[in-house]
Amino acid sequence: MSLRVGILTGGGDCPGLNAVIRAVTKSLIHHGQCEVIGIQDGFDGLMGETPRVRALDWREVSGILHIGGTILGTSNSANPLKNQTTLARVARNLTVLALDVIVVIGGDGTMSLAHGLTEATGVHCVGVPKTIDNDIAHCEHSFGFDTAVATATEALRRIESTASSHHRVMIVETMGRRAGWLALESGIAGAADVILLPEIDYSVDTIVRHCRQREQRQRYTIICMGEGAKAQGASMTVHERVEGSPDPVRLGGVGHVLRLQLQPHLKSEVRTTVLGHVQRGGEPTPFDRILATRFGHRAAQLVLQRKFGRMVTLRGARLASVPIADVANIQRLVSPAHELVKMARDIGVCLGD
Ligand code: F6P
Repeated sequence: MSLRVGILTGGGDCPGLNAVIRAVTKSLIHHGQCEVIGIQDGFDGLMGETPRVRALDWREVSGILHIGGTILGTSNSANPLKNQTTLARVARNLTVLALDVIVVIGGDGTMSLAHGLTEATGVHCVGVPKTIDNDIAHCEHSFGFDTAVATATEALRRIESTASSHHRVMIVETMGRRAGWLALESGIAGAADVILLPEIDYSVDTIVRHCRQREQRQRYTIICMGEGAKAQGASMTVHERVEGSPDPVRLGGVGHVLRLQLQPHLKSEVRTTVLGHVQRGGEPTPFDRILATRFGHRAAQLVLQRKFGRMVTLRGARLASVPIADVANIQRLVSPAHELVKMARDIGVCLGD
């Protein structure tokens, strides 16, 4: 029996999305008796008067393994469950498309929408975890994270030139939303002196003390902080709110907040660099290309075995799968007792508390 398989990328773009699209499509075509339909711009492609789709064949997905972004386009504001009118339109488009299953590539928000859509319309989904934040529940490593860590690490190393030459305190703000994985791993790899995570509220006094000690000896300090980090008793720094979006809060700017908190107490000049979307762009690392290809191949196998409603995952370096319902809208945060946090403390990194 032949299968009509839809594929969409939801949420923010991320290095390795094209590698997954390629692996899913090639695996299904190679197996035979499968038609692959690319849905454009995430769930948005299902929300118009007519569906926005394009057939994916071998040629369409060739030569894209290393390319950043997604050839299908994506949206992190499209919400197919927004209201009854939207949902009815999506249901009608799904009937027109007559898909047996949709491979949904996204983060916890996208998995939550996929789960809600299955409940509301009966459409089957198979999930593939993507995010530079590495915060998807039951998944030790999402693709895109390794590339983002590499980018942020390189930025930290470059920043050190100015920090040491001008004897400055340089703050580098990474992305990561409410999870500190990106700040933690790039901070360690980039030899940051202070690492601030959303999971460990910081004390300005503690950071000032650390910077003053370094003013005496090394004469410069590099601080790597996640965008969700916050001072004790404060709330996260919100850059903007996008009403109607599945995740209406956009974080960003805490690096500037910290600069203002530190500067009055330090002799050195304090400067901030917000890395922003450079962390999401560019070619995936070889690790991410391989992981994304493994995830895409495994998703195709779940489709062929008709194991619907499940998301591919990685546990202890082995591929597995979990119910999509188990990962919807849950974030995997850094435990303050995590081995990497303890190790960082033991080698003299200040965690801000
Ligand atoms: O989830 C990925 C991510 O890059 C977060 O780290 C960040 O908070 C958010 O997306 C930014 O989203 P946008 O592209 O809408 O600014």
